[in-house]
Amino acid sequence: MLLLLALFCFTMDAWRWPWSSKASPTLVYVGTYTGEGATDSKGIYAFSFDDAKSVITPLGLAVATTNASYVLIHPSQKYVFAVNEQDDGKVVAFKVASTQTGQLTLINDQSSRGSGPCYLSTNKAGNYIFVANYNSGTVAALPVDTTDGSVKESTGFDQQTGSSVNPDRQTSPHAHCILLDKREEYAVSADLGSDQIYSYRFTPADGTLERAGITKVPEPGNGPRHLVFSDDQEFVYVMNELMSSITVFKYSPIMQPVQTISTLPSNFTAFNTGAEVLVHPTSGKFLYATNRGHDSIAVFSVDRGTGLLSLIQHMSVQGRTPRNFNILPDGNHLIVANQDSNNLVVFSIDTTTGRLTATGATAEVKTPTCIKFLNT
Ligand SMILES: *[C@@H]1O[C@H](CO)[C@@H](O)[C@H](O)[C@H]1NC(C)=O
Ligand SMILES: *[C@@H]1O[C@H](CO)[C@@H](O)[C@H](O)[C@H]1NC(C)=O
Repeated sequence: MLLLLALFCFTMDAWRWPWSSKASPTLVYVGTYTGEGATDSKGIYAFSFDDAKSVITPLGLAVATTNASYVLIHPSQKYVFAVNEQDDGKVVAFKVASTQTGQLTLINDQSSRGSGPCYLSTNKAGNYIFVANYNSGTVAALPVDTTDGSVKESTGFDQQTGSSVNPDRQTSPHAHCILLDKREEYAVSADLGSDQIYSYRFTPADGTLERAGITKVPEPGNGPRHLVFSDDQEFVYVMNELMSSITVFKYSPIMQPVQTISTLPSNFTAFNTGAEVLVHPTSGKFLYATNRGHDSIAVFSVDRGTGLLSLIQHMSVQGRTPRNFNILPDGNHLIVANQDSNNLVVFSIDTTTGRLTATGATAEVKTPTCIKFLNT
């Protein structure tokens, strides 16, 4: 009987495989800046994305919550977390009430241990969340009860220190991201205000963060914002928001720079800030980065041996201020969130060349700032 069942499952899988690796469309959660006005955004919005047809369908407001500028999907796919980017910063936990409608229900919230929280990440087990607070330049680790999705008071904390040369943006520390490396040994955080990257030893037994090293970015005024690891963890790619460039580092708790490359065309001289950076999820061969001002996505090829980047393409985002984007787990599509033109725009990815092509699929949403996918 068991053998028959196993055979049946195997056959079903094999039967489905070439045509569709996923039975249902992907649920897309979009975090936004909210306001009090009737036409302002109200919280986190849900969309359904059909990868085979490249169609994006709005499902409406998933839950009302203040300034959910960054969203995180729990590894169990049962819970969603968001920041409330406000003076008294919060991390809020929600339960996915329906994978059909995307509705979220509140579980609880906790202090983010600072003001202006703007980034969330988790470990693979899903029993800790890391949060970066931009305004206060603080980072924290908060436990999650994986049986009910509730978030607990922080167990790890650090106040970053220092400043740098940009008088408008770098008079104090501004933690812009925090995430674990691939081996989950260290949590790494880019501080835009002091041009530094902090490495913390993370101890899952008690949830503490302990400083392990500080890397200075090569040029003062770069303003490191977000970073990503190569899949083999040999290299780190850091988006320098203020100089619109990527610095490639050889990874260790104190990192060695190997290249800095502009995300802009050489003839573009108007104001620009860099925003998001991601490595292509299935191949690791391409890197994508957004330009706010030039309003484009820069596409680079990645030399997997040396880590070095070379420019492939600049693609218009068909909107203004592409603060965030995400790549579907199968690596076939990229969706960008244009904060100031209130739209999502879908691109297909040529997985051989890395190049982007606009598919024509778009959706409207007010002040979108973060895109995350639920794998139902
Ligand atoms: C939401 O974020 C915006 C932009 O940072 C800020 O101006 C506004 O005060 C925030 N709202 C609240 C309620 O803190
Ligand atoms: C920059 O060069 C590109 C490619 O040659 C051209 O299409 C574009 O119009 C130029 N932009 C400016 C601002 O000169």
